[in-house]
Amino acid sequence: MNEETLAKSVLCVGCTVIDFVTITGSYPKEDTDRRCLDGFWQRGGNASNVCTVLGVLGSKVDFYGMLSTSDAFRVLLDDLKRRNIGTRHCPHTDKDPPFSSVILAQDTGTRTIIHCNKNYPQVTWEDFKKIDLLRYGWVHFEARNVAETSRMMASIVEHNRVSGESIIISLDFETLYEQNLQLCYPCDYVVFSKELASQRGWKSPRETCESLAADLSLQGTRSPPVIICPWGSAGAVCLDASGNCHELPPYKPQQVVDTLGAGDSFMAGFIYAAHKHKRNLAEAVDFANRVASHKITKFGYDHIGELSLT
Ligand code: FRU
Repeated sequence: MNEETLAKSVLCVGCTVIDFVTITGSYPKEDTDRRCLDGFWQRGGNASNVCTVLGVLGSKVDFYGMLSTSDAFRVLLDDLKRRNIGTRHCPHTDKDPPFSSVILAQDTGTRTIIHCNKNYPQVTWEDFKKIDLLRYGWVHFEARNVAETSRMMASIVEHNRVSGESIIISLDFETLYEQNLQLCYPCDYVVFSKELASQRGWKSPRETCESLAADLSLQGTRSPPVIICPWGSAGAVCLDASGNCHELPPYKPQQVVDTLGAGDSFMAGFIYAAHKHKRNLAEAVDFANRVASHKITKFGYDHIGELSLT
């Protein structure tokens, strides 16, 4: 068997939501009544999108998050099933799913997201501990729900210690810096968003990697995680545990049509290249750049399947 056949599944922990996407020529003026150019809805949410793109690229992937028995959730379940994204062990609620209203402005290429969560319940460590971790080679988390997520990560670290396995842990860090910072410590990879970096006043991806590494070292982590910072049309920078920094230039998209989920596509491209194809850090980040750039040339995610890594 070759490496690819042996690769275990990826598990993505987080949320799945409905994205209502409206396509406009330009961003609407407040308090006006306009027609859009087009629109569609699709399954969204960070971990959920990472699953979609990993599946499209050809990885075995499971989603782990709160599912619902509500009628509105049916469309999300059908899509997960159609795409062969496993949902074993996911707990259920009867609450309606979270949703996002998204405006894609075609003249600027921006995507504006207004997210409505309504306190939808999140998965807990009690649920997570029922998972058979032996199935997985990589577990990816969204930075949220710190107390529960920390315990889930600790379970994986303990599993690795006892079994001698080395399940990789990655984190998508997009919000609430102070609260979520502690989630970085057990991770092998932390992907830090440009938007959160800008909120902190960090002006470049290199400055972001170095500043986050400095904040983490203040607390004395065992072995610091690799930090990766995608910076949209400027490419990405990564900083490894020995302090080596790589700057990976961007791929120029042929056109900018739909930037929704570009960051999630970057994340999936990275996991796919590093896990399934065992590419080194710089190569995997380079492929992640390629996936993110290709993602935005068309609506949705299916066209990402045109890319290959061989
Ligand atoms: C894109 C996305 C959307 C979702 C929103 C949640 O990255 O995952 O699919 O509506 O972010 O914040």
